[in-house]
Amino acid sequence: MVIHDEDARHHSCLALGPGFNQWSGAAPAGIPLPSISYLVYNHMTNSEGNHAEEYSRREFAISTDRRRLDLNFVHGFLKKCYWAKGIPRDVVARSIENSLCFGVYSGSKQIGFGRVISDFSTYAYIGDVFIVDPYRGRGLGKWLMECIMQHPLLQGLRRWSLITRDAHGLYAQSGFTPLKFPKNHMEFHRPDVYA
Ligand SMILES: CC(C)(COP(=O)(O)OP(=O)(O)OC[C@H]1O[C@@H](n2cnc3c(N)ncnc32)[C@H](O)[C@@H]1OP(=O)(O)O)[C@@H](O)C(=O)NCCC(=O)NCCS
Repeated sequence: MVIHDEDARHHSCLALGPGFNQWSGAAPAGIPLPSISYLVYNHMTNSEGNHAEEYSRREFAISTDRRRLDLNFVHGFLKKCYWAKGIPRDVVARSIENSLCFGVYSGSKQIGFGRVISDFSTYAYIGDVFIVDPYRGRGLGKWLMECIMQHPLLQGLRRWSLITRDAHGLYAQSGFTPLKFPKNHMEFHRPDVYA
């Protein structure tokens, strides 16, 4: 696990886990450091040998440790939201298994989520981003986007994309723009797939 504590203004080490090109120690030249300059990186590997990032801010935390995710919470939100209405629980579980997931926590309680589908080389798609109602409007959505886009495995990509009905202003703050050439993009969309 790599812990980024914004209260400790110090940078010590950064390491990637098994399955990726490993490096550790000081961040090498050429790999951009996260925009947030207040990071502590403590290298830890969990019991499954997996790498996880953890970012903290006051009582809140963002973690890529899948074992911390509350599947009932994530499914409970997604099955009612406009983009995935009716999604079955096992489909959410499978999507989590096959994505780089970011859980947002207040203490031990999960309050938000986002996930990235990527080849970790050229392209990343951000999906299923949400913060639950009582915690909205406090900067957590923006912080989640920062954490996603600074993730060490997601640097140097040629393209990021996402789809949103009304949160363009959130993503614009992380550099997203409307499609420059919409006619170059195609999709095969099945909005009624869970009906
Ligand atoms: C969108 C969402 C994740 C934002 O999280 P949040 O913690 O409330 O956002 P923040 O407090 O970090 O601020 C969001 C910023 O984006 C802006 N924004 C633009 N469109 C927005 C929208 N539809 N919803 C929320 N914020 C929006 C806000 O004005 C704010 O900017 P500002 O601080 O400059 O005023 C949250 O409102 C949410 O879960 N909404 C329901 C699910 C959803 O629509 N998810 C996005 C799917 S693409």
